[in-house]
Amino acid sequence: MTIFSASSTAPVNIATLKYWGKRDKLLNLPTNSSISVTLSQNDLRTLTTASCSADFDSDKLWLNGKLESLESVRSQACLADLRGLREKVEAKDESLPKLSQYKLHIVSENNFPTAAGLASSAAGFAALVSAIAKLYKLPEDMSELSKIARKGSGSACRSLFGGFVAWEMGDLENGEDSKAVEVAPLSHWPTMKAAILVVSDDKKDTPSTSGMQQTVATSDLFQHRITEVVPKRFEEMKKAILAKDFEKFAELTMKDSNSFHAVCLDSYPPIFYLNDTSKQVIKLIHRLNEQEGKTIAAYTFDAGPNAVIYYDEINEKKVLGLIYNYFSQVAGWEKYSKDVSTLDKIEVQGT
Ligand code: ADP
Ligand code: DP6
Ligand code: CO
Repeated sequence: MTIFSASSTAPVNIATLKYWGKRDKLLNLPTNSSISVTLSQNDLRTLTTASCSADFDSDKLWLNGKLESLESVRSQACLADLRGLREKVEAKDESLPKLSQYKLHIVSENNFPTAAGLASSAAGFAALVSAIAKLYKLPEDMSELSKIARKGSGSACRSLFGGFVAWEMGDLENGEDSKAVEVAPLSHWPTMKAAILVVSDDKKDTPSTSGMQQTVATSDLFQHRITEVVPKRFEEMKKAILAKDFEKFAELTMKDSNSFHAVCLDSYPPIFYLNDTSKQVIKLIHRLNEQEGKTIAAYTFDAGPNAVIYYDEINEKKVLGLIYNYFSQVAGWEKYSKDVSTLDKIEVQGT
């Protein structure tokens, strides 16, 4: 049996300007543009191996060792696009094996909690698309591949780039202009760090996909967010990143996290992603910034209670020290810290 295979990793990305809402559910076209920071490959990431063979009889996915369906419309949309591009490659060179005709076996592992609001769908679909693109030796660039990853999970399009990334919502109906672009590589702002506070690794009750649909359908505040708030913030945040203006970047990041959780609460029935610990983190960061007389740390929360704290390396001791001290005083909390040399995570468990 001949098996062809290729592996790829993709890190998670944490949005600083949130994607929340689809204008087209099938193509995963968003109601607003978004911005994120992709974490380093050494931290939270997905590792995916894609294999294909004439002897495989169906497409299969093993996620974290468990057989999962690849039959979902979104997974099939990614596979169909990738096979279509491979067919073009094969049409140009008759001698190539017809991999586009073979079934795929995908083995994928996340080194962090899945479906807990730490962007597993982003790293997961980005790694899936890049592993298959590698297997098929596709010539397409990252922005082209980002359109395919987007169909798997919207946020996945941004994980194909490192550093500071924008997902331009686009306005075409077919989604051809809804893609990720680089705002700046991580090397542009190497002192920017992120600490991941794992408050809970439980699977969330409301998956992102259904949560945002509920918001679009029921929240009044949502219209204000996508028309008045986010378009302006999108331009301001890009400017702050390019100017390496931490205070501005931090303020916009915190405000957007709060705005996103506000439209969740304004959904009917309401959606709660933050828990009491998340709220303690919010208060702690505001208190720290007040004490300092300037903004040295920013929190953001995706669709889950886990916090991501952005800070400049120069303030690492102050920011992480405060977090350690605070949470080590809470009874029942355990924590461990890895060497916080790059974008890194601290796990806090308990309560
Ligand atoms: P998260 O906040 O972790 O992104 P979502 O609700 O958006 O949570 O998506 C979780 C879903 O993403 C999982 O149930 C699974 O279907 C998919 N997913 C997660 N990791 C992978 C992976 N490595 N490969 C393929 N799909 C994945
Ligand atoms: C809060 O990309 O997971 O993390 O497109 O339905 O798969 P689907 O949703 P997903 O939503 C992410 C929402 C968010 C914000 C963000 O990452 O921009
Ligand atoms: Co997700």
